[in-house]
Amino acid sequence: MENKIFTVAVIGAGARGLTYTKYMAEKPDKFKLVAVCDCDRIHADHYAETYGLDKSLVFYDEDEFFEKKHADLLIVSTQDQDHVRHAVKGLALGYDILTEKPISDDPEECRKLLEAQKKYKKKVLVCHVLRYAPAFRKVKELLDSGVIGDIVMIDSIEQVRYYHHAHSYVRGNWRDTKKSSPMIIAKCCHDLDLIQWYAGSKCDTISSIGDLRFFNRAHQPEGAADRCVDCKFKDTCTYSAVRLYGPEFKIPFRRHLCKDLTVNQEEIDEALRTTQYGVCVFASDNNAVDNQITMMRFENGITANLRMTAFTAGGGRIMKFYGTHGEIVLDEKERFISISPFGEPEERINTKDLTEGGYGHGGGDSRLVEALYGELIGEGSAGTTLAASIESHLMGFAAEQSRLEGGAVQKIVH
Ligand SMILES: NC(=O)c1ccc[n+]([C@@H]2O[C@H](COP(=O)([O-])OP(=O)(O)OC[C@H]3O[C@@H](n4cnc5c(N)ncnc54)[C@H](O)[C@@H]3O)[C@@H](O)[C@H]2O)c1
Repeated sequence: MENKIFTVAVIGAGARGLTYTKYMAEKPDKFKLVAVCDCDRIHADHYAETYGLDKSLVFYDEDEFFEKKHADLLIVSTQDQDHVRHAVKGLALGYDILTEKPISDDPEECRKLLEAQKKYKKKVLVCHVLRYAPAFRKVKELLDSGVIGDIVMIDSIEQVRYYHHAHSYVRGNWRDTKKSSPMIIAKCCHDLDLIQWYAGSKCDTISSIGDLRFFNRAHQPEGAADRCVDCKFKDTCTYSAVRLYGPEFKIPFRRHLCKDLTVNQEEIDEALRTTQYGVCVFASDNNAVDNQITMMRFENGITANLRMTAFTAGGGRIMKFYGTHGEIVLDEKERFISISPFGEPEERINTKDLTEGGYGHGGGDSRLVEALYGELIGEGSAGTTLAASIESHLMGFAAEQSRLEGGAVQKIVH
């Protein structure tokens, strides 16, 4: 029997939109990319050219794009504050939806999306990509197998990494929580989603403390300029944009400084002179926290904590699971899962062996698209639901409220 091929429209042809559609383009027996909308003409045109789209299906204005339905599936990969608006318009037109996380930074908007999904009876999948990454799935399988008994406590750390933090949360799109989302939602909604999934229960209470400790005027060295290209410390400062985006470090985010997302040093140099990415990390208009600790208790009694820090040399999560009969550790960066049932030898799994064949977020990005296809054809489940995704967002909203109240414990209203 022939495969059903789903036509795909994307709104927001930036870094994430291109990630999913790159994979879809490699599966012409399953997906056909047909339409794009991006308010940045360069992004829209680059996308259209890359995938050979018909000009009539290239849009620069969302109102024109939403005048009618152009495909079976809509990918919403615009910025945080636009996801619900775009997804709800898409649902009303009859699209199934793949939307980027976070859903929103507003609980009411999350409910609005859930209501729209129920009303229009279409599929909505949120890009909690780590649920599809083989290493994280393996941990779930191990926990469910009972190899460490019942989980008592989960201890986790999100190591953002110093230059990732500087790029995204000091200079970049998520630096101002009023225009995007608080850190616990923007970055840590993945962690909260994983913790809730592993705990297998709804979160009952949550508390959180954290602040913006370092990336502010008080820490700007004397004599430093507000733009790195003009600064006398540009060749020595740890956070110098000239060094990080230049040939010495070539951090992976360089393409975000280039208009069509294709790396080009000339454009990067221009961006350092003219955009937010060239600003001193101590002179930006950022307010996202650089350290935060969150504590949770689940309805089934499991306790958990999540520590987020900008100040790590390497990135990746470390999650430790303490059970009544053993311990499991997942270290994303060191690429291992260790399983230590009490009184028995430790077993180690190299997570590199699990991820073969996939890409993005430990293989999660490509596997999410595969799972989505299964869900669309009604064979197999996407592994999570909109309601489950909303659950972790409610945890994040309550954690942020707690942080703003100096760590006061919040009861989660489901
Ligand atoms: N799932 C994950 O792990 C993950 C990782 C990184 C980012 N994200 C999320 O993905 C989303 C996109 O992030 P990105 O890094 O791709 O950003 P990006 O800036 O590279 O892409 C966003 C695109 O949307 C376009 N856009 C903005 N407003 C628009 C509008 N009203 N109509 C049409 N186009 C519009 C922009 O021009 C841009 O091309 C964000 O919400 C982010 O939080 C998710």
